[in-house]
This record gives sequence, C-alpha cells and structure tokens, in this order.
Amino acid sequence: MNQAPQPIGVFDSGVGGLSVLREIRALLPSEELLYVADSGHAPYGDKAVQQVQARAERIIGFFVAQQVRAVVVACNTVTGLSIQALRQQFPQLPLVAIEPAVKPAVAATRSGTVGVLATQNTVRSPGLARLIAAHAGPVRVLAQACPGWVEMVERGELDGAASKAAVAACLEPLLAQGADVLVLGCTHYPFLRPLIEQRAGPGVQVLDPAAAVARELQRRLPLQAAQNQTTQTAAAGSTRFWSSGDCAHASGLISRLWGEPVRAAALPV
Ligand code: DGL
Repeated sequence: MNQAPQPIGVFDSGVGGLSVLREIRALLPSEELLYVADSGHAPYGDKAVQQVQARAERIIGFFVAQQVRAVVVACNTVTGLSIQALRQQFPQLPLVAIEPAVKPAVAATRSGTVGVLATQNTVRSPGLARLIAAHAGPVRVLAQACPGWVEMVERGELDGAASKAAVAACLEPLLAQGADVLVLGCTHYPFLRPLIEQRAGPGVQVLDPAAAVARELQRRLPLQAAQNQTTQTAAAGSTRFWSSGDCAHASGLISRLWGEPVRAAALPV
C-alpha cells in the first residue's frame, strides 16, 4: 500500500535558498518540497548567534510538524554558526547543510589564492574557520564579507548601477590580491552571479555548491531517490512556499526567481 509521501523542508533567511531549491527540484522531480523564506527576520548575516539559532529551531520545528523526512539548511550562515547545535537538538532528523565550497576552490586555483564571498557572520564563523583549517593547505583563502548584498537580492535588485557598484566594491580586494577562484558562500549570491562574473572577468572561476547539496540530499534519501529515478511516470512533486515577511512581496519575488507564479503563505512561527 502506498503511503503519503513525506516532504522535504528547505529554508533560508529569505529567498537565497531558492538557488539550492532549484537544484533539488532538478535532481528530485517527484519529491514534495516545502520552502520557508524567513524574510521577516533577514538578514541573518549580522544577527547574534542566539537569534539566528532560535529562528532555525523554530523553522525546523515547523517542518517537523509538517512531518518532513529531511531538512536542507539552505543558508551558509546557519550552518557556520549553529549546525552542530541543531544536529544535537534534532538527532532523528537528517539535516543536510550547505557550506562554502572551500575544498573544491583549493583544488581549482592556479594562482594559489581563492576568495570566499559570504555574510559577516559566516566570515567570522567557527564553521568557515574549520573548513579553511581542514582544506586550505598552502592556498591562501581570503574571506570577504559582502554587506548589503542579501538586502539587494531581497529587494529584487539583481542588476542596475547600485548593485554593480556594491558587487565591484567587494570583489576589488580579492581580485587585487590575485584570487582566481571565487566561492559563493551565501545562497543569495548566485542571483548576483551575472554581475560577479562580469566584474571578475573570464579568468576567474565562480563556484556555487548548491548542486552538490542536492546530490548530498539524494544520497541521504536512497530509497526515495531510487524511486524517483526509476518511476518515469511518477507525478511531478509539488513545491509549497511560506514567508515570515510581507507575503505579497515574497510571492512576487519568489515567482520571479523560481520562474513560475507561486503564492507564499504566512509562516506561523
Ligand atoms: N542566504 C544566507 C546564507 O547563505 C544568508 C543570508 C542572510 O544574511 O540573511 O548565508
């Protein structure tokens, strides 16, 4: 007898995690996906650790009430600050978490210098320090905070003179020091990727770990993933959205970034 499919929860401080959600949707077309944009509390990047962790706990609790079978932390800031505490708090729940792609960047650099673009909290986080200590070796890893970028994406300002100037200001020091690989260490930043690539030029590689997170989720869900791959007639899974911010704004912005019209419901936590 078929059981109702258990969904997968994905969350971020706002719309940034859609850059991860789209990779998950592409890899796992039949899964039921729930997405929470905590836009009413964004940005996480300059909040106190306790505040960020408390929001993550509330949202994961919401997903547990929706009977999810896994949660994807589509926010580098939450991972860097709190992933260990969250795993202790929800020991039965698979938590798949994004983190900056330091290891692949170190493997890819030819100049010996890589840049990590991230929020202030990620730049200062124990999580990023651990990644650098584990993988950098002789490579110089420059962590660059990018103030204002998350807010720009949340406002839907993905182009235009002000966005270009903000991107250029943060890339400048990294390019001046010879970085030839740039890591998108915040899930909002893939939406600024055209501006980043334009400013960095063709000699600089830009890395986004979102697809790797989707593959990691698939590995953690072996039975369901196998079903998805072999059942060619399986129905497309639904995707549902919640926001803790202004739902009309969230619905418009998510529809634009997601590429189809969607309605975001009010997050009850
Ligand atoms: N998108 C989140 C990340 O990956 C951060 C956003 C924020 O500062 O709110 O780090």
